[in-house]
Amino acid sequence: MRSGDTAVLDDPVGESLRGHHAALARRLGRAATYVPEVATFSAVSPAAGPADWADLSGLLGRGGFADLFSCRAAPPPDWEPVFVLEGRQMIRTGSGRPAEARTERDTDVSEDVVELGAADVPEMLDLAARTQPGPFWPRTHELGTYLGVRAQGRLVAMAGERLRPPGWTEISAVCTAPEARGRGHAARLVNALSARVLSRGERPFLHVAETNTAAIALYERLGFESRQRVTFRGFRTP
Ligand SMILES: CC(C)(COP(=O)(O)OP(=O)(O)OC[C@H]1O[C@@H](n2cnc3c(N)ncnc32)[C@H](O)[C@@H]1OP(=O)(O)O)[C@@H](O)C(=O)NCCC(=O)NCCS
Repeated sequence: MRSGDTAVLDDPVGESLRGHHAALARRLGRAATYVPEVATFSAVSPAAGPADWADLSGLLGRGGFADLFSCRAAPPPDWEPVFVLEGRQMIRTGSGRPAEARTERDTDVSEDVVELGAADVPEMLDLAARTQPGPFWPRTHELGTYLGVRAQGRLVAMAGERLRPPGWTEISAVCTAPEARGRGHAARLVNALSARVLSRGERPFLHVAETNTAAIALYERLGFESRQRVTFRGFRTP
């Protein structure tokens, strides 16, 4: 596969579970999901039949939750819809370095970008709960590198690497505490992660809710373009 081929972005969850994240996957037949507390993203083949859904149900257990945004097939009617939200997938176009900072604010380096790890999880969970960037669990950070910005020791912004289909890395959990917004933290973190991804010969992509116009504008400024619409959708097993 050529690095940066876009076809794998049609099922980034399945591609990650079969590939880069195989060690964090649970599988039964052709169904797969992440281990608990890492993610609830789940995958079945696009031509999934009743046996495949039964396998996924077996993995998740009764009343288990599956995030199926990356899955083309519809679950059986007795799977209870939990949420539906329209969004888009964006990819960073070009293979050059991340866009230069446009404003002075973007180059503010008085607050350092630091790599986050297991010891930072309580603060990461708290920041995610306050800012709602999307699903974030106690072990989500194991999917890739997570970076943060601390101000007076307190975590005020973070972003990290999530799905890893071949040739691509998803940038995710981009969030800044309300009191620290508009200072270029998110731009700096997305640029830092993009640079890491590009340096290993991959390309960055991400997902964002259609209503999140502030984030979409930020990503466009940082060199991302919309590739396709996606529907974020979660279901509970019978
Ligand atoms: C989207 C988000 C991450 C941006 O964080 P941020 O650190 O404020 O972003 P930046 O400062 O790098 O840039 C944000 C842009 O929005 C503007 N902005 C955002 N919040 C602002 C605020 N409170 N005051 C002034 N400007 C603000 C900035 O001016 C900048 O736009 P511009 O450079 O074109 O003028 C933040 O608003 C957030 O955490 N939102 C909730 C979680 C979320 O939706 N995450 C994205 C998931 S895909």
